[in-house]
Amino acid sequence: MPPDRGKNTGESEVIKIAVLVSGGGSNLQSIIDSCRSGKIDGKVELVISSKEGVYALSRAAGSGIESCVIDREGYDSDEAFSEEILRLAKEKKIDIICLAGFLKKLGKNIVKEYGGRILNIHPALLPSFGGRGMYGIRVHRKVLEAGEKESGCTVHIVEEEYDTGEIVLQRKVPVESGDTPEELARRVLKEEHRAYPEAINIIAKKLKK
Ligand code: GRF
Repeated sequence: MPPDRGKNTGESEVIKIAVLVSGGGSNLQSIIDSCRSGKIDGKVELVISSKEGVYALSRAAGSGIESCVIDREGYDSDEAFSEEILRLAKEKKIDIICLAGFLKKLGKNIVKEYGGRILNIHPALLPSFGGRGMYGIRVHRKVLEAGEKESGCTVHIVEEEYDTGEIVLQRKVPVESGDTPEELARRVLKEEHRAYPEAINIIAKKLKK
């Protein structure tokens, strides 16, 4: 039985957020900061990393947020891996799961149970430049190779396939002549830090209705 939307909190009305990471966690930081400043009407209750030793885990510790590592290699399938994430999310009564630089695929089980409440941020304007293998600097390289005049970021609802699902919001940035992939990545990332909190708030408000 799926957890009741927006009613996971029980005793309080605060929207509880879990952030899934695999790397540096600058988006995680922007989510934490936005919760603290009140820009997001919610609280990060749990950080799950697919990798040991990543800086995102230090960020969680620095903010006093509970975190753990769940290594995909310890599981036979995406579903078994996701079952463990699901167990923790339910235990902490999580309302919204945010993928922020999370590089593993989630199984059908978690997508079904948390239907419409798992978000991802992608560093391009989907549906272009998405899909399997399109992550990190490769995305920006492809955008430059295609001669695009603008790029940006997309926050979308997670479905079973990579980078599909309803778009919650997009932010555009210009591609400047002579941009390197790294320069474009920096410009897009700055916009991600504004877009993700805004998108989370859109979903949080819907849950509270
Ligand atoms: C971001 O560019 C995000 O769009 C992508 O992975 C990167 C994560 O960066 N999914 P960070 O770990 O949040 O700094």
